Amino acid sequence: MYTGLLHLHSFLRWVIIVLALIAIYRSYTGMTAGRVFSTGDKKTGLFLMIAAHTTLLVGLYLWIAGPWGLANIRNLGFGAVMKERGYRFYAIEHIFGMLVAIILITIGRGAAKKNIPDLAKFKRSFWFFLVALVIILATVPWPFRAEIGRPWF
Ligand code: HEM
Repeated sequence: MYTGLLHLHSFLRWVIIVLALIAIYRSYTGMTAGRVFSTGDKKTGLFLMIAAHTTLLVGLYLWIAGPWGLANIRNLGFGAVMKERGYRFYAIEHIFGMLVAIILITIGRGAAKKNIPDLAKFKRSFWFFLVALVIILATVPWPFRAEIGRPWF
């Protein structure tokens, strides 16, 4: 079960990245063209949020039940984990960065439900989704990253 969930967690990154790119593009064009905030805009943000929250839930499970999160802190101690890049990344940096990104996605998606002008909705979602995407790209263990790299899929 752990391996299956790890694959799901890994795959969901692509869903999040694609949806975030679509949502950012839609917000940017909506903002510059001054168009109406449509059901499509709402749905893109909603699906992005659902994908991010699902990844969070699976990630929490991996962190609690797997060898790279809580287990390392328990077995080696917090100090030792912080000293070693590979351990520190999965036990602390990855979860912290992703939590911030998911909070930003949730706030960005919240703009769609607010009683504010459409231009303000586009602006808010654009910035929140853009910053979240940058954090996600910086916090994914891409295969080319020394010591922490994992497969593309
Ligand atoms: C947008 C959110 C996230 C993305 C895109 C993401 C992406 C990834 C990727 C690509 C991997 C490598 C998977 C592989 O080895 O094939 C990974 C591993 C991992 N992630 Fe995340 N992650 C996210 C959020 C989280 C969160 C919030 C947590 C913890 C609460 C978490 C915990 C972990 C752990 C513990 C591993 C290592 C699991 C292992 O190798 O046994 N992730 N993540």
